[in-house]
Amino acid sequence: MVGINKRRVRIGMIGHRFMGKVHSHAYRDLPFFFDLPVEPVLSDLAGRNEEELKAAADAMGWASYETDWRRLVERDDIDVIDIVTPNNTHAEMAIAAAEAGKHVICEKPLALSVSEAERMLEAVRKAGTVHMICHNYRFAPAVQYVKRLIEEGRLGRIYHIRAQYLQDWIMDPSFPLVWRLKKEVSGSGALGDIGSHILDLARFLVGEMDEVTGMMKTFIQERPLGEMSGGLNARTDRERSGQVDVDDAVAVMARFQNGALGVFEATRFAGGNRNGNRFEINGEKGSVRWDLENMNHLQVYFTEDEAGLQGFRTINCTEDVHPYAGAYWPPGHIIGYEHTFINLLAEFMRGIAGETAPTPDFEDGLQNQRVLEAVEESARTGTWVKVSRPGSLTGQ
Ligand SMILES: NC(=O)c1ccc[n+]([C@@H]2O[C@H](COP(=O)([O-])OP(=O)(O)OC[C@H]3O[C@@H](n4cnc5c(N)ncnc54)[C@H](O)[C@@H]3O)[C@@H](O)[C@H]2O)c1
Repeated sequence: MVGINKRRVRIGMIGHRFMGKVHSHAYRDLPFFFDLPVEPVLSDLAGRNEEELKAAADAMGWASYETDWRRLVERDDIDVIDIVTPNNTHAEMAIAAAEAGKHVICEKPLALSVSEAERMLEAVRKAGTVHMICHNYRFAPAVQYVKRLIEEGRLGRIYHIRAQYLQDWIMDPSFPLVWRLKKEVSGSGALGDIGSHILDLARFLVGEMDEVTGMMKTFIQERPLGEMSGGLNARTDRERSGQVDVDDAVAVMARFQNGALGVFEATRFAGGNRNGNRFEINGEKGSVRWDLENMNHLQVYFTEDEAGLQGFRTINCTEDVHPYAGAYWPPGHIIGYEHTFINLLAEFMRGIAGETAPTPDFEDGLQNQRVLEAVEESARTGTWVKVSRPGSLTGQ
């Protein structure tokens, strides 16, 4: 419950647009739904444009703001640095935060490259602070329930995962060249932006990948200059244009260490699909299907069901037995996108309270980055590429 006698965890967040709003909302809602030993406090928001920053801080309930994120990191009255800025800033900010002894939570993908991600992991390990990466889709109750079914052996040996992350918000050729379409800022296109989520879900649910092969495609090579303006909207300067140097679409095949096969597709050119994040897993004893746009529902099929009644059935994952669902409303009273972040931040706060070592953490972020880099190498060379094993840093 809100407030009394709880240790206050003072949050400093860098960035204040799409994810800035999502994280701010999640911190504010957290104490209403989770009885945690600590309470997050929206202490300070950092950004660059003072006018926009001040308006965002006021609207989202932050106590103060800083126009230079470095000042935020140096402050003694901040416990957590939350990074919700474009991907090229993550490494510098996270390493500085860890060196200042802060707990760090960072949006995905963790970095621009494996070497950056390794340095980030090294920094948080050295600091001994809590770290997480925001692969929020792990925290949908239905996805957590799939994890439980697999761990309990209810699906038996896993044969397949096929997953898609389909969007369509950049299909218009006049949609501008925003940071997500510039390699030096984003690292990659659909691959890192949305492909990273389904590849993370695959690691979470099925296990580590042994090798991958991929193909990547850029359909629109040149676009007017412009910038993101909130959510997935953008402002444009139609006078000038620039080159797109990231993928618009990517397809990946993977062999898992446990023998399962994976087929993945991530694209921002799948007309009519606004945010179609879906997977199907087939095991020897059953199958599951999940779709973010209908995220409370899970379709399940078990080979042991009696003859005549076999087929997929739909479970509404809003019962107390479904992880996190009991924190919210009575059965059937559905939850949404924002709740995945509230659940994730609940785990982060439990970690800070010393109760757990929450995941996904920077080690997961690094391993995800290794998969992304292997896919890029495969797309370049036209060969299968081994994914280096988790657990160690290069040179150790
Ligand atoms: N978990 C998810 O589902 C999800 C969804 C969208 C975005 N993301 C990730 O979140 C991050 C931010 O994405 P977004 O959509 O919120 O972007 P955005 O463009 O909406 O907002 C970026 C924010 O960062 C600030 N910023 C940029 N450079 C900065 C710098 N050098 N110093 C300080 N502030 C700076 C901008 O002013 C803005 O407030 C990215 O890493 C992205 O991949 C994750």
